[in-house]
Amino acid sequence: MTQNELSQPEIGQNDRKATATESARVFAIANQKGGVGKTTTAINLATALAAVGKKVLVLDLDPQGNASTGLGIAPADRGLNTYKVLHGHCSIAEAAQQSRIPNLFIVPSSVNLSGAELELIDQPRAHFRLKDAVSEAGGLYDYILVDCPPSLNLITVNALAAADAVLVPLQCEFFALEGLTQLLKTIDRVKATLNHGLSIQGVVLTMFDRRNNLSEQVAQDVRAFLGNKVYQTIIPRNVRISEAPSHGIPALVYDHRCAGSKAYMQLASEMLRRERMLAA
Ligand SMILES: Nc1ncnc2c1ncn2[C@@H]1O[C@H](COP(=O)(O)OP(=O)(O)O)[C@@H](O)[C@H]1O
Ligand SMILES: [Mg+2]
Repeated sequence: MTQNELSQPEIGQNDRKATATESARVFAIANQKGGVGKTTTAINLATALAAVGKKVLVLDLDPQGNASTGLGIAPADRGLNTYKVLHGHCSIAEAAQQSRIPNLFIVPSSVNLSGAELELIDQPRAHFRLKDAVSEAGGLYDYILVDCPPSLNLITVNALAAADAVLVPLQCEFFALEGLTQLLKTIDRVKATLNHGLSIQGVVLTMFDRRNNLSEQVAQDVRAFLGNKVYQTIIPRNVRISEAPSHGIPALVYDHRCAGSKAYMQLASEMLRRERMLAA
């Protein structure tokens, strides 16, 4: 898939959802560790889903705005953003921007998100700000992918409360499992209190390095611990993936033939297969 092919307008695709379901499936892409591949997974999974005709929205909840940058939204064009959505100053439909990829939309982030926790905590429905906004907009998209900040703060809890399922990127490094217990506990707590329907869609191993025995060991440990929650697809460490964001395009558009892009296409189909099994 070249950028050109991806940019071909498909008749009607931008006007309506690809499926007839009532509301979008919402996935929180979460891990309180930074640099594990959350944003890369959000952008490239979203692109892969858009490429197969799904209408996809990325919500950038990280004040660093890496998903916004990676999808080519300049800081000057982030006036309507997830911070304003959380405050109820605008709706998702108003704030969503078409990215350069057909079918792929984004609500960019704002640096103000870093102070949002303190501002929101005393507000009514503090944990449900995102859920309320998403339920208004859910009918417009097939999938909403929420790119979470590297923290288990109120913003991430908002994402977990709004989500149908969580997707956890786990970097194939020595400390991969450290912190996972805390994340799983948080997910359980949100499930018990704020969102009974929450589940884990899957755990994706990222930045896997074939030449490094440690990567293989970590992958085995994670599978032993989490069983079939771990996707079969493993995302390899791939330099093309790390180059793509500086061009403001997903790796899948930057170089659709690289190993990383192929892995993200495979992850999308594995994710969709799990979705179908769930619906069956
Ligand atoms: N599979 C990969 N191969 C090489 N670099 C990667 C890969 N996945 C992510 N990166 C790079 O690692 C850094 C952290 O990834 P990112 O997705 O931003 O993590 P997070 O959102 O969890 O902080 C970024 O510079 C990104 O480009
Ligand atoms: Mg990120």
